[in-house]
Amino acid sequence: MNQGVRPAIGKPVERVDGRLKVTGGARYAAEFKVANLAHGVLVMSTIANGSIRSIDTKAALSAPGVLEVLTHQNAPRVRFPERPQTIDDYVAPVFGRSLPVLQDNTIYFNAQPIAVVIAETLEQAEHAATLVRAVYDERKPATSLEAEIARAFPPQEGLMKESPTERPADVVRGDPNALSKAEVVIDETYTIPIETHNPMELLSTIAQWSSDGKLTVHDKTQWVPNTQGYLALVFGIPETDVHVISPFVGGAFGSSLRPWAHPVVAAMAARAVRRPVKLVVARNQMFTSHGHRPYTVQRVALGSGRDGRLTAIVHEGTAQTSIYEENTESLVNASRMLYASPNCITKYRLVRGNIQTPLYMRGPGESSGVFALDSAIDELAYKLKIDPLEMRIRNHADRDPSNNLPFSSKSLLECYRRGAEKFGWSRRTFEPRSMRDGRYLIGMGVATATYPTLRMPATARARVFSDGTAVVQSSASDMGPGTWTMMKVVGAEALAMDLSRVRSELGDSSLPKGSVHGGSGTTASVGSAVHEASLAVQAKLLALATKDSRSPLNGVATDQVTAENGRFFVKNDSSRGETYAEILRRNNMDSIDATVESMPDDASKKFSMHAFGAHFLEVRVDAELGSVRVTRVVTGVGAGRIMNEKTAISQITGGVVGGIGMALMEETVMDHRMGRIVNASLGEYHVPVNADIGSLEAFFVEERDEHVNPLGAKGIGEVSYVGVAAAVANAVFHATGKRIRHLPITLDKLL
Ligand code: MOS
Repeated sequence: MNQGVRPAIGKPVERVDGRLKVTGGARYAAEFKVANLAHGVLVMSTIANGSIRSIDTKAALSAPGVLEVLTHQNAPRVRFPERPQTIDDYVAPVFGRSLPVLQDNTIYFNAQPIAVVIAETLEQAEHAATLVRAVYDERKPATSLEAEIARAFPPQEGLMKESPTERPADVVRGDPNALSKAEVVIDETYTIPIETHNPMELLSTIAQWSSDGKLTVHDKTQWVPNTQGYLALVFGIPETDVHVISPFVGGAFGSSLRPWAHPVVAAMAARAVRRPVKLVVARNQMFTSHGHRPYTVQRVALGSGRDGRLTAIVHEGTAQTSIYEENTESLVNASRMLYASPNCITKYRLVRGNIQTPLYMRGPGESSGVFALDSAIDELAYKLKIDPLEMRIRNHADRDPSNNLPFSSKSLLECYRRGAEKFGWSRRTFEPRSMRDGRYLIGMGVATATYPTLRMPATARARVFSDGTAVVQSSASDMGPGTWTMMKVVGAEALAMDLSRVRSELGDSSLPKGSVHGGSGTTASVGSAVHEASLAVQAKLLALATKDSRSPLNGVATDQVTAENGRFFVKNDSSRGETYAEILRRNNMDSIDATVESMPDDASKKFSMHAFGAHFLEVRVDAELGSVRVTRVVTGVGAGRIMNEKTAISQITGGVVGGIGMALMEETVMDHRMGRIVNASLGEYHVPVNADIGSLEAFFVEERDEHVNPLGAKGIGEVSYVGVAAAVANAVFHATGKRIRHLPITLDKLL
């Protein structure tokens, strides 16, 4: 079967859920109407290390409307999975055990849940929560990475032979002494504070048990089957007895990749009061109720010849993790592959602290690592007096230096070239502080973006109905990038049907199993499954026609048939054909469907697969006040085939906004005496708002990549963040002559 006109992919398609979202029609987890609902409110610890000696819930229990107060003394006993084992697909640290919430009296971090109050109304629960009193045996907390750095250890994950995430503690390529032999060297340390995801939607769960012991949860999650499997394990019930409903996710940035304590607590509470319970984590509690971008200290040393060609890269990254889990991310990975250098050493270490376990946030690993690496590249360029863009071009890697594999496709040089042209890089003068507009120092910076192309197993179903419509289904999530729209577009394309005739369904564990909505892999994984399921159902339909003596297509070889607008016809005779609906109706079928599990092939063994891009960025720094504004950004990305340029461009510019937040504003401030976060609110944790953002422009370099997956799509969610913070730091250096190596770049550091 050949496809005729392409009806969908590549067209600018409106977000299918857009209208629902702006009219309030989209239901988020906490917004579902459930009868007889009770409300839970968490009570958090006020110490960071130690244990609960006693906890007094009497006053809370006798407060108006209170139904129950659960603490470690009376909460249902559950089982928290230990890794590595348990469910195969599970985003969580490979080593350690999830926080055993309300199971014992140990306190691992400040603002850890120690009780849940359940009442008739939210206000009653909130009031009673203030009446719970705990007495602690307190130990000195350890929350500063720097203070504990002597205890840094190589993550156990690095000892695993075939770690799927490739985070070995130490990797050496080439000559380990190359740095000391280099003609020119820079050697600097960069730090990134804790950053908190701060999506708009709060973590929320409505949990409900049926009389026969089945659990239904409306939960905010980036991975429906994972939440289902996790709750089944924790409560010791079959997976099929857990129903997870999560049609919309109001932003997450990685914070809902794994189920945290709150769905477990909500389900415990619902079991205890024998009623449905809604638990919404308050904004201030969010800072410790899910993970965060870990605090990192990174040493990057680069060596080169006078010509600027790198001869040595050394990248040593140390990240913070919790007391009870080892969270790892690809902090130093980009240094092994982003620039050509015959010699490279990366080291990765963890330091434990009295904190919640970190978790992937906005370009995890790479966005932290490339801040250090691409700042260092800039520093070396200035030492050599080479234009920073030319420096990057000179060190372009034509093959992946880490494994010597060819790239499946790479258009980074084109991103540099076209980006520079659109941005006007040639107008830039080299010297720091050389561009000025009145009181403003103008700076222009560049940095490289990269993110690996991931593909995970995913299952989808495509169903064509006799009324000429179709639906494509998978239990995927959509936290904003447009999974709803992507599934519909991909389905319409493969089915050769008009877009208006195809619907998508996602976010429900009763649907075929979707992949994790993370790692920029949803289109590559769920999209591929939708594509394959759609082709499979179309092939079934065609077989029904060609084998049927009543069909005009009877006996026609399938490769002589093409399809358009929901109709098969013979290639050279479009009058000979029939619609999918006609085929179904003749066979007395209401619908026909196919379910396909789409699996990654061995492409990753033969090719290095990454999205690449370049950010060109202009800042204006007030020479007297030190305040920084990003006035212009041009971002070019090569990420394979783009499914829907309209939503894709908005994803890239959204990522750039997140990167500007990382560069200039975001910092979760810890008081190390108390081990307590002191700015746990959106009033004091700053994220960019419209007024902070200047002109953003993004473009794609179209790539035809036959290797990554059947759609040729690399994924764009994360690559857009990576490099932004370095581009800002590089532009600030160009503007002011000050190199800021500690994020965020606030005005106090510039004065
Ligand atoms: Mo992403 S940080 O993998 O949701």
